[in-house]
Amino acid sequence: MVSYKELGLVNSREIFRKAFEGKYAIPAFNFNNMEQMQAIVQACVEKKSPVILQVSSGARKYANQTLLRYMAQGAVEYAKELGYNIPIVLHLDHGDSFELCKSCIEMGFSSVMIDGSHHSYEKNIELTRQVVEYAHKYDVTVEGELGVLAGIEDDVVAEHHTYTEPGQVEDFVSKTGVDSLAISIGTSHGANKFKPEQCTRNAEGILVPPPLRFDILEEIEKRIPGFSIVLHGASSVPQDQVALINKYGGALKDAIGIPEEQLRRAAASAVCKINIDSDGRLAMTAAVREIFATQPAEFDPRKYLGPARDNLKKLYMHKVESVLGSAGKA
Ligand code: G3H
Ligand code: 13P
Ligand code: ZN
Repeated sequence: MVSYKELGLVNSREIFRKAFEGKYAIPAFNFNNMEQMQAIVQACVEKKSPVILQVSSGARKYANQTLLRYMAQGAVEYAKELGYNIPIVLHLDHGDSFELCKSCIEMGFSSVMIDGSHHSYEKNIELTRQVVEYAHKYDVTVEGELGVLAGIEDDVVAEHHTYTEPGQVEDFVSKTGVDSLAISIGTSHGANKFKPEQCTRNAEGILVPPPLRFDILEEIEKRIPGFSIVLHGASSVPQDQVALINKYGGALKDAIGIPEEQLRRAAASAVCKINIDSDGRLAMTAAVREIFATQPAEFDPRKYLGPARDNLKKLYMHKVESVLGSAGKA
């Protein structure tokens, strides 16, 4: 058993409280490899933002849980070396079982998500409470989920949204003891969040998706005042990155994300954590494709992963500065 405290990590309690009071959101960026981790730490140190390093079960399978643990520990030391000791949380994204959450806690995670949203309400409560009871013994914070996002969640595929039912949140939070709650208000995972036919065109001809259900969010805020809310599926799918990918041989069709102003509005509300993965994938892919297409003789991985890392860092700096509002809050 390794305590996250020995690794220099923090849980999410204090940073969420400050984010709530300060009307901004903490970035939760997914990582699977060294370049992503470097870009996240460099960007957040430079912008003095707290950060959540997020690991999905797929990432754990891909990168090896032990290596990821040491990378997170390395991230803390790396941040100090870069000159600023920002709060860093190591969080399990979309944990689907008690055993997985327990194993991550034993490996040094400071926060876990137990996603029981695809179970019945009663089973979700039971599973979430079991994780909370274990996690709280070690001062590890727990995120639960109510409502189902459309799209792909790790191994779980949902066809349609089931928006969070505001009438359930108070009961769920009090029965489970969770520290934060992920809700479904119209976001979804991946780069194809909306079909073009769901969107309207603005004066510049750009597709504008239907707005998030802020009415549901407000209703939830009324029922559990002061409670930390989490927004998954919050990538904006930057169209310049999509265009670069497609220019250099990619085939992304109808890639549409959540407009940044919607996320700014969410960050100023009870939403304390905003999850972003797909935008990072797009930024890396765009940079790698550009190098492959324009410098076909290049075969040193540093020559394409380096620019990919730089492009990622630029994206993350923009997110914390101009979308989440967490810059300068570390
Ligand atoms: O919510 C899902 C995250 O984007 C993680 O994706 O399961 O492919 O690592 P992944
Ligand atoms: P995106 O696919 O919109 O980046 O969402 C990521 C996420 O919610 C991770 O849990
Ligand atoms: Zn998610």
